[in-house]
Amino acid sequence: MYIGKARAYTNIALIKYWGKKDEHLILPMNSSLSLTLDAFYTETSVHFDETLTEDLFFLDGEKQNAKQTAKISKFLDLVRQKQNLSLFAKVDSKNFVPTAAGLASSASGLAALAGACSEALDLQLSEPELSRLARRGSGSACRSIFGGFSQWQKGDSDQTSFAQEIPSDNWENELAMLFVLVDDGVKDISSRDGMKRTVETSSFYSGWLETVEADLATAKQAIAEKDFHKLGEVTEANGLRMHGTTLAAVPPFTYWSPESLKVMQLVRSARQQGLPCYFTMDAGPNVKILVEKKNLTMLKRLLADHFSEQQLITANAGPGISLIPVERSEEV
Ligand code: ADP
Ligand code: DP6
Repeated sequence: MYIGKARAYTNIALIKYWGKKDEHLILPMNSSLSLTLDAFYTETSVHFDETLTEDLFFLDGEKQNAKQTAKISKFLDLVRQKQNLSLFAKVDSKNFVPTAAGLASSASGLAALAGACSEALDLQLSEPELSRLARRGSGSACRSIFGGFSQWQKGDSDQTSFAQEIPSDNWENELAMLFVLVDDGVKDISSRDGMKRTVETSSFYSGWLETVEADLATAKQAIAEKDFHKLGEVTEANGLRMHGTTLAAVPPFTYWSPESLKVMQLVRSARQQGLPCYFTMDAGPNVKILVEKKNLTMLKRLLADHFSEQQLITANAGPGISLIPVERSEEV
């Protein structure tokens, strides 16, 4: 029996990954940049065991259906191939983040799975190698190997597409991200399906590709200069452009809800009142607001008139992936 367990935190992209040029290898159309957060994470253990007759996947204590388990098996096959191993595995995962609600459970989930497998089979991977492995599970997961800011360099092959930490002199510790949970239910269109439809059918997609690398350069410059306004402006503009592409897809779709628009408007009005803060959204209706920690209390006060305390979750910059010692009781 081979056992490993890992914890990985979610990350939210400031410059989004949106579109694949290779769906099998999960090679992205564009590079992206994110902030790993401390509020949401996944813990996953994996047991490769000779007594198992199939792969088993438990999420939050519940045995998952064939479709979800097949996704996990596909990932396990990658690591089994590396070690020439034919054992089935039991994967037991706990999300400390709502699943499939646009809060990046796929990033923390697949990064934790990659870390647990690497530990179980003693793969001895370097950080870029672990990032490449996580990428094969879910693109955004490759950034969750690292704490703070990280950049996923798109590359043009399996070898060259991975994330790296962006040095920031700990500036991320002066920032916060406020999550406004307008709906934590499972979304109708997954990130995977949404980006595929957009790449294949959206007449706006070429506009996305024309601008995203310049956005990335601006974001990196803002981090180097610790320029919050520059980082916030490019984050908000980039997110809006990503969401713009979905409107021209066939059939068109949007992840926005009326509540999301309300939050966007509140952010704009906070800025008009002199409080610098900027929003971004992913494949779901929840809104994330980038703000300097010194202004967080004020921002929460403004939002408290419209949203309950439970709907407002503060995240700080979070750490990279970590291994967890496996307790004896978990070994069976
Ligand atoms: P999200 O916004 O939460 O990342 P996605 O649609 O991108 O939503 O991804 C959700 C999918 O990620 C789930 O359907 C599941 O396949 C996968 N996933 C989520 N959490 C885990 C986990 N802990 N372990 C393995 N896979 C997970
Ligand atoms: C909008 O990484 O979940 O959150 O690679 O198909 O698993 P797959 O997609 P996923 O997509 C994330 C999309 C996004 C933007 C981002 O995180 O960069």
